[in-house]
Amino acid sequence: MILPIVAYGSPILRKVAEEIDANFPNLKALISDMFDTLYATDGVGLAAPQVSKSIRLVVIDATPFEDEEKGLKGFKKVIINPKIIERKGEPTVFNEGCLSVPGIREDVFKHPVIRIEYYDEKFVKHDEVYKGIASRIIQHEYDHLEGVLFTDYCPPLKKRLMKRKLTDITKGIVNVKYKMKFPKKIN
Ligand code: CO
Repeated sequence: MILPIVAYGSPILRKVAEEIDANFPNLKALISDMFDTLYATDGVGLAAPQVSKSIRLVVIDATPFEDEEKGLKGFKKVIINPKIIERKGEPTVFNEGCLSVPGIREDVFKHPVIRIEYYDEKFVKHDEVYKGIASRIIQHEYDHLEGVLFTDYCPPLKKRLMKRKLTDITKGIVNVKYKMKFPKKIN
């Protein structure tokens, strides 16, 4: 089932999401719905707060980047209760976008390498190191669980230039091909 993705300006995108355990109700169905929702877009990751659930759950499929970096075909993951325990390397630039912020992309600097602890959909614990595009996708989705959006990394001048577009997004004045929920849309 495809779920509506909440747009920029929705308060849930600014909340720190809650950890869950294996008894979280209908977790399997939610994960399946989140993949359905992701595949209805051109995105590579989706965090639960973007589908109105303030929990620490992320789904990723980096396959659309397979031509840009080796090894990303079928790079599909469910990440639960993640903790980034190390960020390494000189910050590098990556052009980021977000399904909750349609029509805007910006260059963002982040550390290229992360070490992350998380649980998969079977609640098996992992401790892994990621670099390259996978690291950037995971960091972007992790930020969603902390109430952070990629636009927050932009310098003040860029933010001022984006303001009008962001306000339009909150009202649903944006061209988007997937199902969304806009916080200030007047019907
Ligand atoms: Co996003």
